[in-house]
Amino acid sequence: MTQIAYLIAATLFIIGLKRLGSPKTARSGNLAAMSGMLIAIVVTLLDKQILDFTFIIAGMIVGAALGLVAAKKIQMTAMPQMVALFNGLGGIASALVAFAGYRQAGPTRIDVAIAITTIISLLVGTATFTGSLIAFAKLQGRLRKAAGRLPMPKVLNAVVLAAVLTCGALALLDPGSAVWMPMVLVLAALYGVIMVLPVGGANMPVIISLLNSYSGVAAAATGFVLSNPVLIISGALVGASGLILTRIMCQAMNRSLGNVLFAGVGALPAGSEGSGEEPRQVTRYSAEEAAMVMDTAKSVIIIPGYGLAVAQAQHALQELADLLANRGIEVRYAIHPVAGRMPGHMNVLLAEANVSYDLLLEMDAINDDFKNTDVALVVGANDVTNHEAACCKPDSPLFGMPTLKVNEARSAMVIKRSLSPGFAGIDNDLFYAQSTMMLFGDAKQMVTDLIREIKSL
Ligand code: TAP
Repeated sequence: MTQIAYLIAATLFIIGLKRLGSPKTARSGNLAAMSGMLIAIVVTLLDKQILDFTFIIAGMIVGAALGLVAAKKIQMTAMPQMVALFNGLGGIASALVAFAGYRQAGPTRIDVAIAITTIISLLVGTATFTGSLIAFAKLQGRLRKAAGRLPMPKVLNAVVLAAVLTCGALALLDPGSAVWMPMVLVLAALYGVIMVLPVGGANMPVIISLLNSYSGVAAAATGFVLSNPVLIISGALVGASGLILTRIMCQAMNRSLGNVLFAGVGALPAGSEGSGEEPRQVTRYSAEEAAMVMDTAKSVIIIPGYGLAVAQAQHALQELADLLANRGIEVRYAIHPVAGRMPGHMNVLLAEANVSYDLLLEMDAINDDFKNTDVALVVGANDVTNHEAACCKPDSPLFGMPTLKVNEARSAMVIKRSLSPGFAGIDNDLFYAQSTMMLFGDAKQMVTDLIREIKSL
């Protein structure tokens, strides 16, 4: 019965993942995966002939309460930090459970396969934990200045990894020793720190996805230690899907994984903050002037970014798009794969405002249309439109990342509050171009003003 229940749970995980592939089926996919997890937990608890449930129930209540508060309180824009923490906690939970299983079995009775998987779980789980904490601190903007300042990151990485593996091998050869396994734990923690520390700000989405994959690998290894098939399957699913997402994001940012991990690309070059350059001129437009320009356009492409999420302007934006469409203007949305702060951030946001999926076009599908477009309306986006830095400035954190070709549109309108940089912390030449009109203000307020002005024309 237990094995059949595990099989049902695993099937539900796979159905859940499949259905998460499209916004239309994502809710039911989430529900399927949650049901699978509930079955897996209940069956595991009943199967293991646990004598005392006190700690388990207390742990579940505290964990569920913390999770509930975090999920309710956290802003959509801080989602990557939360995902980073969840990955880290998953990793350390796997590592500690594997360690406890190993200790309980007693070092002399343990077989080699279990010892090896314990070491894998300790290494990957602990490194995921400390790496995720560093990622969290970086995303909160607390570690920015330290980014990329490690001497010879590749060498350091290799030395610490070699040290962990050596301690792991010694633990295998000398299972009675109380030194080697804890050493694996300590060195793995150090490995996580030096793995994530040099990763630059613009590459953080990739590292979060990689850490997510690692937390799955740690869980799968712990599944072997505990001989629990559903843990092996769910860990493998997380590991594989995280790796696929990492690959997709690397491709979207035109970087190799090695480049993300070691090159410090995306870190701010030393001294780039507040470089004291002469301020350049921009063309400032009011909502009234912008409304008149927009009314004469035949085609508009909207480029949403992180600022749209901050301002929660998605409903107002949808109203503006409808208004323009009703006046015979073709309106579409250009979605950059890393716009916002998490994969699919813009899709989720616009789906909330019931924007039709057919109007959301991926970067590759729409990038060649900018040159035939009258108005490119940038709403709270910055880095994803920074074509100049991405194509032509080799020392820029964004160099090599494909961007939306907003600069090719006949005119561009940029809604943001100031000339402050975006996530990558660098200036954007688009704002100073002759064909760009800057509409300074909060995105929701400015879009609402545009609606009012267009209606009054
Ligand atoms: P960003 O480059 O971060 O720029 C967002 C802009 O929004 C800022 O320049 C800000 O300018 C403006 N803004 C903030 N609040 C606003 C408000 N209330 N009203 C109007 N504007 C507002 O955003 P992006 O273009 O979406 O690029 C995403 C960046 O985040 C990339 O560098 C990407 O690598 C990184 N990242 C992405 C992810 C994923 S997976 N999507 C995860 C982590 C990091 P003002 O302050 O002047 O208003």
